[in-house]
Amino acid sequence: MPEETVIRKKTALSGIQPSGNLTLGNYLGALSNFSEFTSEYNCYYCVVDLHSITVRQIPAELRRRTYEVLALYISCGLDPEKCTLFVQSHVHEHAELSWMLSCFTMFGELSRMTQFKDKSAKHADNINAGLFTYPVLMASDILLYQADVVPIGQDQKQHLELARDIAERFNGVFSPTFTVPEPYIPKIGANIMSLAEPTKKMSKSDANENAVIRILDTRDVIIKKFRRAVTDSDTCVRYADGKDGIKNLMTIYSCFTGKSYDEIEREFDGRGYGDFKSAVGEVCADGLQPVKERFDKLMADKPYLESVMRDGAEKASRAAGKTVSKVKRKLGFVTL
Ligand code: TRP
Repeated sequence: MPEETVIRKKTALSGIQPSGNLTLGNYLGALSNFSEFTSEYNCYYCVVDLHSITVRQIPAELRRRTYEVLALYISCGLDPEKCTLFVQSHVHEHAELSWMLSCFTMFGELSRMTQFKDKSAKHADNINAGLFTYPVLMASDILLYQADVVPIGQDQKQHLELARDIAERFNGVFSPTFTVPEPYIPKIGANIMSLAEPTKKMSKSDANENAVIRILDTRDVIIKKFRRAVTDSDTCVRYADGKDGIKNLMTIYSCFTGKSYDEIEREFDGRGYGDFKSAVGEVCADGLQPVKERFDKLMADKPYLESVMRDGAEKASRAAGKTVSKVKRKLGFVTL
């Protein structure tokens, strides 16, 4: 290949916390799109365990969920040979850069983060400093790998803006050091709503289990939850204002079948909500089935998952180490 046609692939990075059982929202909004990135970008996908201890965790569960998120990454189509899959706490540079960048982040900026305000209201008995500086750690995750693109949900947009501000500030004080990242927010699937209160986002920590489809729910459970989904007193399947429940179900159906809203309206013309809800349950259960099968196989093979973690940590450390050395040099730390 002539040299000028060799184009450096851009870098993408994303992270998922190992807290809570991942939902259909995580799947459609994030996991199911991740594998598309691997051909186009140099990808890093991280299990962000350091982030999850801002709220109390049960150690044995945190450990199990770390394996689970890694297994889910792989079951959703991320190939460890084609991208870097790793656990955040295995790469010490995350914590290290986080300290340095915290000195380039303002108290006022962190105070304005809506997630901090929400979480400190929810965990009023444990408003720890980590909860407050969480976005700095997230900025470090991203900036360490010089990520160009960051796939995130809408709720993380403010944190990404802050990462950009920190990068620009540091680059301005010293000289270009960090790539300023762009968010990538998938259009469809990004807003999967609760099945019980369809004006609220589907959340992995919802107290009402019927509101949430878990990626690892069994087929029967999935079908049962969709049958109970809250809709409206109308009877026709139409994508229209005031029909939040139906709109949400149509979005889910569309994600799994690739059908447009028009096609779905025609398909269910003259049929009741009962039929439609069953159909959504079926396509969702069918869609998640292969993911679940791969997941079970992977979870039965811990040594394999650990080898992925080890390789991933090694690859990630190499990239992260370069950035940290550069930052230390610019700050004036003595290097030996
Ligand atoms: N804060 C993100 C969330 O709760 C998770 C996260 C941590 C992340 N570091 C990241 C996402 C880096 C993207 C890139 O969803």
